[in-house]
Amino acid sequence: MSATTEPGTPYKRTDYCGGLRAADEGREVVLCGWVHKTRDMGHLVFVDVRDREGLVQVVFQSDRPDLAEEAKKLRNEFVVGVRGRVRRRSAANKDLATGEIEVEAAGLRVFAAAKVPPFVVADPPQASEELRLKYRYLDLRRPGMQRRIRLRHEAALAARNYLSGRGYLEIETPILANPTPEGARDFLVPSRVSKGRFYALPQSPQQFKQTLMVAGFDRYFQIVRCFRDEALRADRQLEFTQIDIETSFIDLDDFFALNEGLMEALFALVGRKVERPFPRLPYAEAMERYGSDKPDLRVPLEMRDLTAVASATGSEVLKGAVAAGGEVKGLRVPGAGALSRAQLDKLGDKAKALGAKGLVWIKRQGGWKSALKAAEADYEAIWAALGAGDPDLVLLVAGEREAALKALGEIRRAWPLGDPALADRLAFCWVVDFPLFEWSEEEGRFVSMHHPFTSPRDEDLPLLEAAPAEVRAKAYDLVLNGHEVGGGSIRIHDMGVQRRVFQALGLSDEETEEKFGYFLEALSLGAPPHGGIAHGFDRLVMLLAGEESIREVIPFPKTTGALDLMTGSPSAVDPRQLDELGLKIKDR
Ligand code: AMO
Repeated sequence: MSATTEPGTPYKRTDYCGGLRAADEGREVVLCGWVHKTRDMGHLVFVDVRDREGLVQVVFQSDRPDLAEEAKKLRNEFVVGVRGRVRRRSAANKDLATGEIEVEAAGLRVFAAAKVPPFVVADPPQASEELRLKYRYLDLRRPGMQRRIRLRHEAALAARNYLSGRGYLEIETPILANPTPEGARDFLVPSRVSKGRFYALPQSPQQFKQTLMVAGFDRYFQIVRCFRDEALRADRQLEFTQIDIETSFIDLDDFFALNEGLMEALFALVGRKVERPFPRLPYAEAMERYGSDKPDLRVPLEMRDLTAVASATGSEVLKGAVAAGGEVKGLRVPGAGALSRAQLDKLGDKAKALGAKGLVWIKRQGGWKSALKAAEADYEAIWAALGAGDPDLVLLVAGEREAALKALGEIRRAWPLGDPALADRLAFCWVVDFPLFEWSEEEGRFVSMHHPFTSPRDEDLPLLEAAPAEVRAKAYDLVLNGHEVGGGSIRIHDMGVQRRVFQALGLSDEETEEKFGYFLEALSLGAPPHGGIAHGFDRLVMLLAGEESIREVIPFPKTTGALDLMTGSPSAVDPRQLDELGLKIKDR
């Protein structure tokens, strides 16, 4: 449809709807956009026209009955051009950036009609996420989504400018490559030319960026898509974007400062100040105090080890857990002594669901109250060890160390922040000195906690074979308000050490040669000391935008069921295509 009140007149846009202000009063403008809302007042028709910059009110008056008649036919989401003059409104709308003015229409063009949309395009969203994703192009028309996608662009630009300004070169690396061991499943791409062989989509450009250091590029970055076939969550997608960085002849203090400056530049985009330097927290300490390797440092609750105190009490439950090789961890929750029995039971259920045998609570409001049977002196001892006071609540978990830390850590993490000033903080920290390996029950061997190119700490090198679980890594994560924003490490640049790490991971010489032969050779042909990091770009934009899911900052995300509801991907393929690739789908 191309109805127009002015056949032959070109509708060349002069302004964005959302850009008009009082200073434009009297100007003749041409606007192009979508009908957001219409109000037919009989003698007057008001039409809000929306484009990516915002919306403006257009008035069709009865002294132009031809125009007003056409305007009455407009429906939401029609695509229109409007010619008219900007004038002051008699009563300003303070909620609208363009609220001081309106456009008095002198001509109208309908570029396209639209069916009745499945939901109203307005903030906050008025449809389920499923419907929003199916009609993502409509959802993306909402001002909030437009703002976030633009913020994403600005963040990418700021990161590029920041890194480029510090001597970093953006260099592309292949998407069709060999598997990268980042711990997730690979997406495989069958080769048509070499039948029976597969490319893997990169889980990260890890080996390529290290190879670029061997190649002498010295400082690399890339805003790069990565692919991991892993369970989807609010902060995880199958394909996601990293700000990937690598530096030769790296000095760790300088490198941390570089990344802290990058965060400062990004958060400046949303007018937020970042406190520097970021504190550094060894992994072991993070686990003991917060029960997490990505602690939310805004939460004013800390855990303590109470194993010694607990074994000196008369409580059979606590002593028994310690005698069985367990530990006792305690958490003081300031001001939570008034929690009801039902609320405490709920916490207990949560702790059990997280693997703890149970949750002990103690309060001292008008006398001791506790789920734990113990002498008053025992309560006193625990109370004192945690520095608790009358209004507080004390929570204990006894048993296997990891489970106790995890259960209390999760209760701590989920504790409501209450004070809005706390919620508003940007609590960054570096978590450092991760273990190099962790034991995988599933695989019955040690696996890398980060990836196998991470350097062990020099003083722990002798433990590589003798006590792999005790080797600490030169690895670091960047954490913000409980989110892992980035992860990186100083790399192994010595071929011999790299071989020893592959051995500790249970790789045979043949496997090492087959998977990483080229890489070991590169390390033997003049590799500089180097290290780097990758930041989760989607997570950063999510945090910049104050959102809780990365799906809110990705134009076309997948559902947690790994589907693209708009395109219907993944889809079946033509049997001919399979045949060309030498593939056959197995019947289950
Ligand atoms: P890592 O695996 O820690 O390190 O990834 C770096 C950062 O990427 C983000 N991230 C994700 N974001 C969305 N969806 C996902 N599925 C997903 N997986 C990871 C996280 C994470 O901190 N090659 C190393 C980096 C290095 O050593 O330099 C790597 O990829 O924010």
